[in-house]
Amino acid sequence: MSPVAPTTARFISFEGIDGAGKSTHIEALGERLRQRGADVVHTREPGGTELAESLRELILHRGMDSLTEALLVFAGRRDHLQRVIEPALAAGKTVLCDRFTDASFAYQGGGRGMDLAVLGTLEQWVQGTRQPDLTLWFDLDPAIAAQRRAAAREADRFEQQDLEFFTRVRAGYAARAASAPQRFARIDAGRSVPEVAAQIHQLLEARGW
Ligand code: TYD
Repeated sequence: MSPVAPTTARFISFEGIDGAGKSTHIEALGERLRQRGADVVHTREPGGTELAESLRELILHRGMDSLTEALLVFAGRRDHLQRVIEPALAAGKTVLCDRFTDASFAYQGGGRGMDLAVLGTLEQWVQGTRQPDLTLWFDLDPAIAAQRRAAAREADRFEQQDLEFFTRVRAGYAARAASAPQRFARIDAGRSVPEVAAQIHQLLEARGW
């Protein structure tokens, strides 16, 4: 395989319910792309800028209704797009983003039951036609994800939710994936770390990335 051209702008997002294990693989993928010559930017949502990281603190730790939550998530996203994502893509960089708008459809839409049309309007306002070029969806049984989370760390407002909530979030992701099958790639996150890494490797190879 020839190395990735340094000027190739790509926007890759990583999604899945809490506990699906994205973080390990984002790091590894970044390393792989760097070795192939890409200029890689790692970022995340909620967050990614000073302002959006401040909003993240509120979103993860303060009580609020679901519309307020969605407005804060999209406000942070606007700042993140303008200050980080769009300039990086314009400079030919590869952006690896830990969660993006699909998480709003899955968590605020599926999990909290918000009207998807309202989320669609916010999506349009905030990002116009900008979408990730590829979304890696780490799909995992919510019961297994809950076991993994229990061993991990102190839970935030989302991680404290019950199995039914995460079942709805998962369904939210499934619906988003069905609506954008070319962009979404489903990863079986129930497999071992090397097996998941191999799935990601194959997906990128297939795209010549
Ligand atoms: P994450 O970064 O995966 O948390 P951690 O650092 O604990 O791994 O995600 C933070 C939480 O934010 C996650 O539970 C999902 C939630 N979230 C939304 O509800 N809506 C959104 O649009 C985004 C981007 C995240």
